[in-house]
Amino acid sequence: MVNLTIDGKKISAADGETLLQVARDNGIQIPTLCSNDGLEPYGACRLCVVEVQNGSMVTLETACTYPAAEGIKVRTDAPDVIKARKLVLGLHLARCPNVKLIKELAAQYGIEKPAEHLRMENEYCILCGLCVRACNEVVQAGAISFCGSGKDKRVDSPFGLEAEDCIGCSSCAFVCPTGIIKVRDIEKATEQMPAGEVEIGPERIIENWNRNLKLRTCKDSNNAYAPEFMLNRFCKTMDLPDQFFDISPSYREFPVVDEDLCVGCGACSDECPVGAIQLRERENKEVRSNILTTHCCGCRTCTMYCVRSAIKVPEIA
Ligand code: FES
Repeated sequence: MVNLTIDGKKISAADGETLLQVARDNGIQIPTLCSNDGLEPYGACRLCVVEVQNGSMVTLETACTYPAAEGIKVRTDAPDVIKARKLVLGLHLARCPNVKLIKELAAQYGIEKPAEHLRMENEYCILCGLCVRACNEVVQAGAISFCGSGKDKRVDSPFGLEAEDCIGCSSCAFVCPTGIIKVRDIEKATEQMPAGEVEIGPERIIENWNRNLKLRTCKDSNNAYAPEFMLNRFCKTMDLPDQFFDISPSYREFPVVDEDLCVGCGACSDECPVGAIQLRERENKEVRSNILTTHCCGCRTCTMYCVRSAIKVPEIA
């Protein structure tokens, strides 16, 4: 444990915690744009800047990357901190003058208009890197990356072509703070091709990465629910049976064991393709099948192998 102060408040923090985590855990708010609890700190947006006094040295640091340390004094609202945040927000506003979140944050710091000589039009990416990091760190697809430099720096697919490693999970759009990454699911549409009009869909379209992915249709609900490419990859990397995603998770009804009919023969657990059935001994020493809903894929193989018809799937309303 280390002891420090933030805005005059004495605080104990665990080794390795960042100032941002410590501040938030203690109800002290620090604005951020590029931080996400599920991702490694990156320090791109510079908005979380705070003043750190370590001995006789006073510096401005990004709270999301700076580790809590013994004896330091942190100020989140010092005049220099406010000045630095205004500078940072002024630059973000000049780059992305039409992004609602940036406009709101800038207004909170008294900035109404971007500096005209720096102003860019039609730019909606603040280069926070959340999409790239989510794709790399969480999804492990590595489908997009930063490219270019200086004012031409941007996030893109390899060579601006189709991001062939993109699995269509939409994580990039989910973490994007400006909403510039667009994911569209279409059930059915027509497209003009040189040979004439063709029908497309169901498809997921991520225009930012030039990616179109066919959607799998749930066998129960008949709804197109997730990209085939993504589900196949999950099956491969997690060693799941091919039919694991035949029924969409939200439409899955888990089989129920009628313990009066079950004799604990184990045929269902032997045949379950995902190991979701265990035999459990009851208090009276009788053995019965037990379905783990955390593992069940909804394939209903168990219902076919139960000679006593003791496993039933509730009817879907
Ligand atoms: S949140 Fe710390 S630099 Fe962006």
